[in-house]
Amino acid sequence: MKHKIIIDTDPGIDDAMAIAYAIAHPDIEVLALTTIFGNVRTDESTRNALALLEHWGSDADVAEGEPAPLLIPANEPGYLVHGANGFGGVSIPATSRAKHGLDAVDYIIEASKRFPGEVVLCAIGPLTNLARLLERDPEIVTRLKAVVVMGGAVHRKGNVTPVAEANFWNDPHAADQVLAAEWPLVLAPLDCTMPVVFTPDYMQALAKESPLLGEPLAEMAEFYARFYRSYLGIGGCVPHDVMALSWLTVPGAFRLQKGALAVVTDGPAIGQTLFQPGGTQSRARCFDGRPDHLVMVDTDPEMFMADYMMVMARHTK
Ligand code: RIB
Ligand code: CA
Repeated sequence: MKHKIIIDTDPGIDDAMAIAYAIAHPDIEVLALTTIFGNVRTDESTRNALALLEHWGSDADVAEGEPAPLLIPANEPGYLVHGANGFGGVSIPATSRAKHGLDAVDYIIEASKRFPGEVVLCAIGPLTNLARLLERDPEIVTRLKAVVVMGGAVHRKGNVTPVAEANFWNDPHAADQVLAAEWPLVLAPLDCTMPVVFTPDYMQALAKESPLLGEPLAEMAEFYARFYRSYLGIGGCVPHDVMALSWLTVPGAFRLQKGALAVVTDGPAIGQTLFQPGGTQSRARCFDGRPDHLVMVDTDPEMFMADYMMVMARHTK
């Protein structure tokens, strides 16, 4: 049976890498992309999501999400990392295709009622839509098969501040509420994404193996890698968002830990992920009453990259 998934996304170059993989994978059915701010504004995410699906021949829906964080003022979108158009300046033809009539939250609620217990929600941007989802329909926690979140940094430092990862930093209150909820959540933090680097050679091979998907991604990766080279001295780029999909399809590539999670919502450490390993106690009251979730704390890069290339190469349309 295929995984029925909804991807909550702020495309975004690594979002595009994840969306391409989901479209290409024979065991994944993409019901919809729901859009959020982060790498770009929410309306730009919607435009980019529609264009990617049209260009790559997917009939998935696009439902537009929340325009701003729950409480904090919106941070500047991630144009420095993803470019002014979110794709590193690479032009993906605009489309006349329209977004869905339901907003992101109502779309997810409706899909969870249409396919109770079957839908996997993969969140690869700030978590504002998911926090609103919990507010609007608390029963959602029993109707989704799983929630896989790319975000946070557990045993590693942050990527937008010394302690905060971008998706959690862009809406810390939403991230904290999502991690406090009693739903089957798996977290893919920087701990499992940073060990993987898509080098220019890997991206050129991808473009050759899978031109329709790989050629635009290889072009986007040139812009994305310039950020990694100049700010982190890394010889390539990190496909953070793909891990939220690969958890479903190649789980053996990841090492897991279980524990309770919280997010700092104010002060100099705003956006920091706090983790208390399962079965341990601490005096930190922030974990009181919180469920343990699965955390992907490391990745086998070779296994992950071989799978990504294989899946993309099979999509020769
Ligand atoms: O920190 C990485 C995350 O922030 C990824 O989802 C990337 O697309 C950006 O949104
Ligand atoms: Ca993203």
